[in-house]
Amino acid sequence: MAFLADALSRVKPSATIAVSQKARELKAKGRDVIGLGAGEPDFDTPDNIKKAAIDAINRGETKYTPVSGIPELREAIARKFKRENNLDYTAAQTIVGTGGKQILFNAFMATLNPGDEVVIPAPYWVSYPEMVALCGGTPVFVSTSQENNFKLKAEDLEKAITPKTKWFVFNSPSNPSGAAYSHDELKALTDVLMKHPHVWVLTDDMYEHLTYGDFKFATPVEVEPGLYDRTLTMNGVSKAYAMTGWRIGYAAGPLQLIKAMDMIQGQQTSGATSIAQWAAVEALDGPQDFIPRNKEIFQARRDLVVSMLNQAKGISCPTPEGAFYVYPSCAGLIGKTAPSGKVIETDEDFVSELLEAEGVAVVHGSAFGLGPNFRISYATSEALLEEACRRIQRFCAACR
Ligand SMILES: Cc1ncc(COP(=O)(O)O)c(C=O)c1O
Repeated sequence: MAFLADALSRVKPSATIAVSQKARELKAKGRDVIGLGAGEPDFDTPDNIKKAAIDAINRGETKYTPVSGIPELREAIARKFKRENNLDYTAAQTIVGTGGKQILFNAFMATLNPGDEVVIPAPYWVSYPEMVALCGGTPVFVSTSQENNFKLKAEDLEKAITPKTKWFVFNSPSNPSGAAYSHDELKALTDVLMKHPHVWVLTDDMYEHLTYGDFKFATPVEVEPGLYDRTLTMNGVSKAYAMTGWRIGYAAGPLQLIKAMDMIQGQQTSGATSIAQWAAVEALDGPQDFIPRNKEIFQARRDLVVSMLNQAKGISCPTPEGAFYVYPSCAGLIGKTAPSGKVIETDEDFVSELLEAEGVAVVHGSAFGLGPNFRISYATSEALLEEACRRIQRFCAACR
């Protein structure tokens, strides 16, 4: 009898974590490495949020909480959906998890049976297919293209849907491409979904607050209220409030699904950390002036990186609407010889040669299901980004 579960053979470790680990190892050996792999803001959590956590400790809010979250946070979440997305949810229709990751996992765990298909546009966040596979479902990938700014075409969504489709996973702004769908672009997709009433929508709005210029964020149920009864709208405090380590994510959706997710969570982690939940109440209800300030900083970094990458020989980099990632193509370098003498055959080769030659750590696009591209996280200082892009330019110029 095998000791490890069969389910483990269906998943692979996170490529983004592997890149960060490799960069750390090289640094420990004394190499000058710039890590552009991490998916978290480099800002500190705002002071008012930290204070809310300290106050919660001092008040003795250090005990188990209800599985789906403290009532105060669930009310704050319902208010957030009304205020920012014009969506009506009662507190009972919300659930708090240990990060958005747990919300997604429990939604799949609560609904997937063997053979159920989950449509995932590529490039995708690395965890979606692995979670689906762990929960016994089958990921069905639909490619996008750089020409279409990595946005899914309605006809491609239509073709991917079968009688076995249980979920369509939607993520805008996207990790890894930064692509964000306008109201009209999203409407083209929701029109398709309206024709297939058996398909549920899992929308991952984690990067909602990170969009640039005059781009206006839209979420599926806001665009098509007809999807209300079969959509789980997921969000969290990690990215917008620089709270990745606090581990608070949340969602709202039909009561039947929320109750099923609550049941799973009750036999798993129970309620998320009490102190972090109180901090999240302050994040959602407190001053929001932190967000536009950070957006301005991110936008300046995005513009710098896009401009410098487009000056690198063989690289072409579209300007994404949101998140803190760019997803340039390295197609112009495939077939070229790196300074080490190795021929670059894939985006994975490109990324590892770049790391060896110039000490810049980025993540290969094939890990996100679409290449030859690579992902750069620009959630780091402008000075480091400038230096990293200069090194990328030098590396590309040295490839023959
Ligand atoms: C698209 C996307 N969804 C969800 C998450 C999970 O966020 P958390 O578990 O920190 O709330 C991430 C984090 O990287 C992400 O990029």
